[in-house]
Amino acid sequence: MRQHKLALCKTHFLDWVPEQVERAISKYNMFTHQDQLLVAVSGGKDSLSLWDILQRLGYSADGLYIGLGIDAGVNYSINSLEYARNFAQERNLMLHIVDIQAEYGETIPELAMRTNRGHYKPCSVCGLAKRHVMNRIARQNNYTVLLTGHNLDDEAAILFSNTLNWLGNYLIHQSPVLEADKPGLVRKAKPLCRMYEREMAAYALLRGIHYIQEECPFAEDSTSIYYKGLLNKMESDKPGVKLNFYLSFLRAKRDGLFSPSIDENAELLHTCPECGQPTSAPGLCVFCRMFIQIENHVET
Ligand code: AMP
Ligand code: FES
Ligand code: ZN
Repeated sequence: MRQHKLALCKTHFLDWVPEQVERAISKYNMFTHQDQLLVAVSGGKDSLSLWDILQRLGYSADGLYIGLGIDAGVNYSINSLEYARNFAQERNLMLHIVDIQAEYGETIPELAMRTNRGHYKPCSVCGLAKRHVMNRIARQNNYTVLLTGHNLDDEAAILFSNTLNWLGNYLIHQSPVLEADKPGLVRKAKPLCRMYEREMAAYALLRGIHYIQEECPFAEDSTSIYYKGLLNKMESDKPGVKLNFYLSFLRAKRDGLFSPSIDENAELLHTCPECGQPTSAPGLCVFCRMFIQIENHVET
């Protein structure tokens, strides 16, 4: 691992990874052993490895898989569910499964086609639905922290995009922990935020974790994959640049570079009358409005 000037054998690497994750959990005050944890698992290497690491660190955590109904000729959702379900069954772990189509009547690609959000590319509808369902299931079942498997490459790519466009609000919110500071919101944490994607791939391989190797078919030409490629080019010339980019940002933020404005604090002060989650304006939240739109569409 040139980025850390460190070379480890399999045994030591498999101990080192959970140690790093534990350090991040305590450094950013993510959660404690008293918290009720829910891990959002996609069937991919990061979220399944995170679930494995939490178990090894002695945290008890349940899982949540969201069936998005993405087929795209490769049975993407069906296959990823199998990986998540097998992982949970083998280890006797509790996995909540929410099927978007069964609960809301449409798959994510269908939703994207019917609404004007997404323009036939379902990623924004998908992100909206995932955030909504994760928060709903966590609240309904009294989990105190919701965990996702975002790794350093994900976070650095998001930071790169937020910086290129100077998206102040997004920069203020980008953090290893998002506090439950609004009514209806559950605390969120990203314990793998300092782990390189390659480190997580090596971890999953060496631990014998079976995971879906394909990316979501709709992500193929996404800008985030493009930014990841650019950052990897820099990383190969200057090992550690990705980690430094992210950690320097967190330090700058801690030192007050992005202190929130008054307007920012006024955001999300309303509660959606339908689902009870916070929203920026009075009335239905964006998620619930999307379904009203569909109901109207179907009726007319
Ligand atoms: P992505 O948005 O695909 O980069 O995934 C980021 C994180 O969101 C993953 O590491 C998971 O923790 C979570 N996630 C993504 N897809 C799903 C899903 N279908 N069900 C549950 N969690 C998911
Ligand atoms: Fe949501 Fe691909 S569109 S995972
Ligand atoms: Zn709502």
